[in-house]
Amino acid sequence: MDKLIITGGARLNGEIRISGAKNAALPILAATLLADGPVTVANLPHLHDITTMIELFGRMGIEPVINEKLAVEIDPRTIKTLIAPYELVKTMRASILVLGPMVARFGEAEVALPGGCAIGSRPVDLHIRGLEAMGATIDVEGGYIKAKAPEGGLRGANFFFDTVSVTGTENIMMAAALAKGRTVLQNAAREPEVVDLAHFINAMGGNVQGAGTDTIIIEGVERLHSATYKVMPDRIETGTYLVAAAVTGGRVKLKDTDPTILEAVLDKLREAGAEVTTGADWIELNMHGKRARAVNLRTAPYPAFPTDMQAQFISLNAVAEGTGAVIETVFENRFMHVYELLRMGAHILVEGNTAVVTGVAGLKGAPVMATDLRASASLVLAALVAEGDTLIDRIYHIDRGYECIEEKLQMLGAKIRRVPG
Ligand code: UD1
Repeated sequence: MDKLIITGGARLNGEIRISGAKNAALPILAATLLADGPVTVANLPHLHDITTMIELFGRMGIEPVINEKLAVEIDPRTIKTLIAPYELVKTMRASILVLGPMVARFGEAEVALPGGCAIGSRPVDLHIRGLEAMGATIDVEGGYIKAKAPEGGLRGANFFFDTVSVTGTENIMMAAALAKGRTVLQNAAREPEVVDLAHFINAMGGNVQGAGTDTIIIEGVERLHSATYKVMPDRIETGTYLVAAAVTGGRVKLKDTDPTILEAVLDKLREAGAEVTTGADWIELNMHGKRARAVNLRTAPYPAFPTDMQAQFISLNAVAEGTGAVIETVFENRFMHVYELLRMGAHILVEGNTAVVTGVAGLKGAPVMATDLRASASLVLAALVAEGDTLIDRIYHIDRGYECIEEKLQMLGAKIRRVPG
């Protein structure tokens, strides 16, 4: 298993490019199944989760082709089996995103039930109930969700999400795109990735309105056609590199990103004392060598502060001046990184869904273990400012969500290397 070794102390300075968003690319790849011709998806990040989705397509008989511009071409007409097997689903929960499109387009699907997850129970009941509301029959049997569309196909429905769910909204939105009649989704997720997916469905000839608000209206269409689409920038990768510059007192300019999709994060960085300037497709953060001030924050669905940036801000608070309370309201049990940060000398008290972080003057390098994707990012950030070497184990979690993390950090002046193990 590969490990990362980071020698802390370098003040980051430089410019890098932000990759396509993993959490937009995954539902967009799943939505290609809805088309009746080949679809091209560009700006896909090179990440393990994307490879897993492509492997899943391979298992179903579809062979995605990478074209000369490094975009992926998918022809959903070549599908042979409608089964998403457990070996793949267990490695990536987002595989559940193929459920809605398969039932809508091919009338049935079998998708393994994603198991428990390190960051809380993460059920999929809303995905199932949404499809049932559209007339699908669903049996959960032998660890698989077996779904069948009714005679004549899925029907439009009104569906209320009692919890805001990002992939839940996406799954039902994709299914509704080919259903008969109108679907109204209430208390829908407003995340920018949901909006990107809606744009993609519309680019294939769909009719989705209201994405980005809590009510999404989808008029089902007979067919969706071929299209070419470019995935939006990754707001969590963007936020992570901004925090990397902030913890080290440095400066970073991020290109090919979008400042309008992470306002809650930019506000908190300014509150922490960073100078943040933005243009249409870039963000620059300059800490001018200063130590950050600790900030209080509370995660919640978009447009509030994202849970996927919570761990990184705990690392920022860990070396900041003062004390900050971080409240996690989206997932239970999402503080595993805290226990690794304590091993590096952080002062953090966890009580229920709140972590109270009191900044220390310095962290010390230590061997630590990544436990999930964003937790591992927080360990990288802490290691960048820690004294001496930090050895981060189980970095396959990082490779699920950060494209070329060591190359990008090296370009900014960090001392980081990967050691095969
Ligand atoms: C997505 C993101 C993930 C992010 C999360 C919250 C992708 C591929 N992943 O995950 O990076 O951390 O949004 O912003 O986009 N819930 C239910 N029943 C359901 C579904 C969800 O109770 O059927 C609950 C979950 O347990 C959780 C909350 O809803 O407490 C939000 O989860 P959800 O938005 O569904 O997360 P994901 O879509 O899995």
